[in-house]
Amino acid sequence: MALSETIKAGPASGKLDHIPGHLGLPIFGNTFDFLKDPIAFHNGRREQYGDVYKVSIFGGQTVVLRGADALEYVLMDRDKNFASRRGWDLLWRLFPNGLMLRDFDDHRSHRRIMQVAFKPQPMRDYMSGLNDGIANSMRAWAPSSRFEFYPAIKNLTLELGASVFLGLKMGDDAAKVNQAFMDEVAASVAVLRRPWPFTPMRRGVKARAFLLDYFRDIIPARRAGDGNDMFSQFCRAESEDGAFFTDDEIVDHLNFLLMAAHDTTTSALSTMVWALAEYPEWQDAVREEVLAVGTEQLDFDAQDQLAVTERVFKEALRFRPPVMFIPRFAERPFEFGGYQIPGETSISVSPVLVAMSEKHWTQPTKFDPDRFSDNRAEDRSHRFAWSPFGGGAHKCIGMHFALMQVRAFVFQFLRNYEVALPEGYEARWQALPIPKPKDGLPVVLSRR
Ligand code: HEM
Repeated sequence: MALSETIKAGPASGKLDHIPGHLGLPIFGNTFDFLKDPIAFHNGRREQYGDVYKVSIFGGQTVVLRGADALEYVLMDRDKNFASRRGWDLLWRLFPNGLMLRDFDDHRSHRRIMQVAFKPQPMRDYMSGLNDGIANSMRAWAPSSRFEFYPAIKNLTLELGASVFLGLKMGDDAAKVNQAFMDEVAASVAVLRRPWPFTPMRRGVKARAFLLDYFRDIIPARRAGDGNDMFSQFCRAESEDGAFFTDDEIVDHLNFLLMAAHDTTTSALSTMVWALAEYPEWQDAVREEVLAVGTEQLDFDAQDQLAVTERVFKEALRFRPPVMFIPRFAERPFEFGGYQIPGETSISVSPVLVAMSEKHWTQPTKFDPDRFSDNRAEDRSHRFAWSPFGGGAHKCIGMHFALMQVRAFVFQFLRNYEVALPEGYEARWQALPIPKPKDGLPVVLSRR
């Protein structure tokens, strides 16, 4: 039967009456149930309604499309139906014009320029900055029977942001810049969206203005200099067709990039270290591999010697992906899963729901890095079975950078420390907007 014959026709008015789902409370909709436990919330809906249903979260109706096929269909977007800018509307006030908030041809031309900053030579340069920065920050980590890992790693990634992304020396204005950046990120997820006095949004808007002025003032020096940081790369980047970023574009891209890189990597490293502490056999296996490399810090060219590290990290990203849901805005009507979905509709697809699906993974709730081994290769069951970095035109531009940063961190961390969980510890994580441990992730840290 042709797909179009199986379509349950929808009203042309753009309403979603024909899409199953219940929308919960007036005004708040399903928001509280969703925030309490997003995975349980969606699994309940799927049992009731199947792979296509509507929800009402954060004040608007969204059509959820479940499964790896949905991820592929929406993210590959062969018909250019799905806008990222209006999907991620929540971020617009603080991060307008960031790469993820651009679409189609405009997005492609900006991405081409930015890609220059992620070529092999700049990546080598970032690696040496990462190695030095990690060594510097980690020096202050004193052994303790209760070391709060989450604030420590957040601080470390902030310091790397200041040095490797912005080219600031510690002591410069790094502390002021980091504070402004944290205010901005806090505002981006604030419930109250208007910048009224004394609200996080007001602080965020002020922080954004400070950061943009700060970045703009140093563009001339970065452009003229030969710095190896990402800011300098953006200032000098020229695409193959000879295009550069303007000053306004540089500051907006930089501002967005810092946000896209920071909480995601902090979250991923927290899950990774929790896993190393929870599964000492994996900690031993990763350490053995790290020690076999034989250097104090990880050389750029030695990265491919870390196959076990890679497997554990891939599993950490499957187990608890930092970006659980990816929003898009359907600009035109489309058909999916037997439904006709009208244009001007918010859409959501989800890496985490696929990562927890028995269709693609054996015992998905179990932490099991061997599922990525060549003989099991569960990640190859579908092109989008494992998609913590998204896919298609907006696939994370910092994916290799993030992998490099995690390898460089784990390398130095396991050479210098052993990590364990306190007796009787039970992990408690907040899932949204980006997973983080509710208790700061206390670990027993001892020197090797
Ligand atoms: C473990 C860490 C990270 C994860 C899990 C992650 C995840 C993602 C995901 C899922 C997307 C796609 C969103 C969408 O399609 O709407 C994305 C986009 C993006 N990420 Fe990452 N990210 C990480 C680290 C980084 C880092 C380190 C950087 C920068 C160095 C970065 C910069 C970006 C940018 C600029 C985009 C937008 C790309 C575009 O629209 O073309 N991310 N990331």
